[in-house]
Amino acid sequence: MPVDASNALLRWYVVDKRALPWRAAEGETPDPYRVWLSEVMLQQTTVAAVKPYFEKFTSRWPTVESLAAAEDGEVMAAWAGLGYYARARNLLACARAVAAEHGGRFPGAEEELLKLPGIGRYTAAAIAAIAFGRRAVVVDGNVERVVARLFAVEEPLPAARARLYELTDGITPGEGCGDFAQAMMDLGATICTPRNTACGICPLAADCRARIEGEPERYPVKLPKAAKPKRQGIAYWLQHEDHVLLVRRPAKGLLGGMLALPSGAWSASPVAGEGAPAAANWNEAGAVEHVFTHFALNLRLLCAEAGARGEGIWWPIERIGEAGLPTVFAKAAARAADWRRAA
Ligand code: ADE
Repeated sequence: MPVDASNALLRWYVVDKRALPWRAAEGETPDPYRVWLSEVMLQQTTVAAVKPYFEKFTSRWPTVESLAAAEDGEVMAAWAGLGYYARARNLLACARAVAAEHGGRFPGAEEELLKLPGIGRYTAAAIAAIAFGRRAVVVDGNVERVVARLFAVEEPLPAARARLYELTDGITPGEGCGDFAQAMMDLGATICTPRNTACGICPLAADCRARIEGEPERYPVKLPKAAKPKRQGIAYWLQHEDHVLLVRRPAKGLLGGMLALPSGAWSASPVAGEGAPAAANWNEAGAVEHVFTHFALNLRLLCAEAGARGEGIWWPIERIGEAGLPTVFAKAAARAADWRRAA
């Protein structure tokens, strides 16, 4: 990027950067713990969704050591609703590794960061640049869009990723890399948006090939997405008086380690009765829809009153909101509440 453009971007960032809770104030040194936590939360998740979780986590666990000492179940429950639960398991594993192997201090070098659980190429680069001021090439979805437009990259995503990385490398400055990366992200989030771009106020407008061509929103070119496959499943609400039966899902796999309603396998054609926690007089209570990364789920809900409490985790129904159910099961629990009212 011409020096003028790079300076224009940084001047714009100084004035117009978003006030985000994990950003250090002017003149303050960034806290690597807060930078790491925010970057993990922001993977595949919007700033608006992350903010309340970031506040909750940092007030409850203000340092990496305090997070490392937390109980697994507490952290999983605090993460509930944010999605991509493997991130929460890796978050704890990473905090514990930093506490045990690095004396509670995050390493600053990308190669060291990459060895930690849940830290991939993007996150390592973001932490190195933002928390430690190192030169690193930081490419997320926003940066990809900005760069694809700056250079009018015709090659479609996802194949264009390697080229976009190289182009970002080519315009990344040696100094002020953290501000540069965050300026690119903020530009992508506020001006160089997927639709309705605000080229009139963009600090990079003069250098942007896509704008000069006149159709910036055509970039990044994308291959058409395949439709998501559909799956079906059944979840079971088994209550006894004022408690409901929950299960802890296996650590590995979808929603791993989270509390949930008992449920059979989710597939194109589920087997009737599979996964039921007990023989009972099951009542149909409707269905909920939920879209995961790789499939869309239609989850039927069956409800019943048990004669007695058997084995397992019996949770007070009044406090179901504190169980930390992943969103799909929180939706099912809301349906069960309708069924209870109608019963
Ligand atoms: N998205 C991911 N990380 C970000 C950051 N540090 N600033 C703005 N947007 C982001």
